[in-house]
Amino acid sequence: MYFLLCVLIIMIPIWLLYLSIRCRLYIINIPMPRCNLLFGHAFEFLDKKRILSKFTEYCIEYGGIYKIYIPPKLPTLIISDPELIQQLTTTHLEKSLDYKVFKRWIGQGLLTADVKVWKTNRRLITPCFGRLSTLISFVDIFEKNGNQLVNYLENQMDNNSIDVFPLIKIITLNSMCETSMGVSKLNPDYMQTYCQSMQKLLKIYINRPSSIKRYDFLYRLSNDYIEEEKALKVVSEIFKMIMKEKINNNAEKNVDEENSNLSFLDMLLEIQTKYGLSKEYIRDEVNTFLLGGHDTTATAIAFTLYSLAMNQHIQDKVLAEQIELFGSFKEDLEVSHTELKQMKYLDLVIKESLRMFPPIPAIGRRITSDFKLGDYDLPKNMNVTVFIYGCHHNPKYFPEPDKFIPERFLDSTPSSFIPFSFGPRNCIGNKFAMLQMKSCISKVVRYFKLLPPKPDYNMNLIITATLFSENGIRLSLEKRVSSE
Ligand code: HEM
Repeated sequence: MYFLLCVLIIMIPIWLLYLSIRCRLYIINIPMPRCNLLFGHAFEFLDKKRILSKFTEYCIEYGGIYKIYIPPKLPTLIISDPELIQQLTTTHLEKSLDYKVFKRWIGQGLLTADVKVWKTNRRLITPCFGRLSTLISFVDIFEKNGNQLVNYLENQMDNNSIDVFPLIKIITLNSMCETSMGVSKLNPDYMQTYCQSMQKLLKIYINRPSSIKRYDFLYRLSNDYIEEEKALKVVSEIFKMIMKEKINNNAEKNVDEENSNLSFLDMLLEIQTKYGLSKEYIRDEVNTFLLGGHDTTATAIAFTLYSLAMNQHIQDKVLAEQIELFGSFKEDLEVSHTELKQMKYLDLVIKESLRMFPPIPAIGRRITSDFKLGDYDLPKNMNVTVFIYGCHHNPKYFPEPDKFIPERFLDSTPSSFIPFSFGPRNCIGNKFAMLQMKSCISKVVRYFKLLPPKPDYNMNLIITATLFSENGIRLSLEKRVSSE
């Protein structure tokens, strides 16, 4: 026993040293930030609050490409140079291994599907989702939910600041259910529990790959596994509820209504019948769109409102545009698609917010065959992280990156602006998201003056699958008076 212990004490450091040398020699010309000789960058993942800033510093220092190492895995490449990102995302569509953990929840939905499945499904789904007439028909639902948000905010308004994020999440989830699934009667209490469970899953899934819990047998012994099981039970209920209401709605429809206003889910069900696809196909896409469609948009809306609260002169310009568009300051407007399109300054503000606070700060791809990326020869099976946040915060592409300057997008949108990713596997819902953000933010700005949070606070930004503020996204509100 004593002998075995001695062997382990000697062998483990030798093994770690071997892995460390192997890592340093692996694609030797790619720089690697200084790290612990045996444990690589593992310790840097312990301080969640420092990851964003640390990894962004590396992006600037190493010119948009570097490798990091967490033993015993081979190094992961982190890229943030726009040209390299474009080259990678247009040629490599397979997601990195880190996405595997999501499959228990969203299976072969678009976000996580293997390329072969993805190609067919994206081709089938794109026409259902991208049509202008479909988007225009969603505007009334966005407006209705925006009004609901204003009610929620008014009810919670007091002298102190409020965390707007949970309220906005309920609204974007409602919009997603109504626009894309065609259902509107889900229980509000359940929606709240759904959002909380979803947040829990995102946190567990993002932590797993960089910890020892990435090994299934160790993960199953952990508390996270128990929490995941519980949360999965909650989030999977939503599919059953949606399908139940859908069946009831369809039974109540008369013949004239049958082909009008088909929701995304109706179209998916048609595709399922036409191509003989499984029930799991529908379930995975519904869960994918609910996840991809509401949390990201809520994150973007909340950070934009926060940015406006912190930059009064920009908020004034947003309000001035509203007054110019609608003649005078009105509270109870129902805005049309054409009017949303005319909000040009708000467009710049949303872009700047997506730059500064990209709701998905990083995405991953896997190299499926040996590949030359820029000047570097990458071997098959390497995982590459596209660090969107790092690209958006590099002064080389966006001077004074920590300042909120919407005018930087006035002349054109640079190729370094990639909140919706790039290439064939980019975000399918980007137009939907932009429209909902405009509808919601313009409404809130017309109703409330947004003010910095009281008492003062700094957001603790961390990466879950989305960009997340651990201490909420807080601001203060003051109701505007109609004569403004
Ligand atoms: C501000 C809001 C949004 C942002 C910043 C955003 C961002 C992104 C990004 C970066 C990706 C690429 C993910 C990856 O490569 O792993 C993506 C994919 C995706 N997004 Fe969005 N998204 C937003 C809103 C939406 C909305 C509203 C929907 C649905 C209505 C949606 C549905 C999807 C889907 C299904 C994919 C997977 C596409 C594919 O692989 O073919 N997203 N999104």
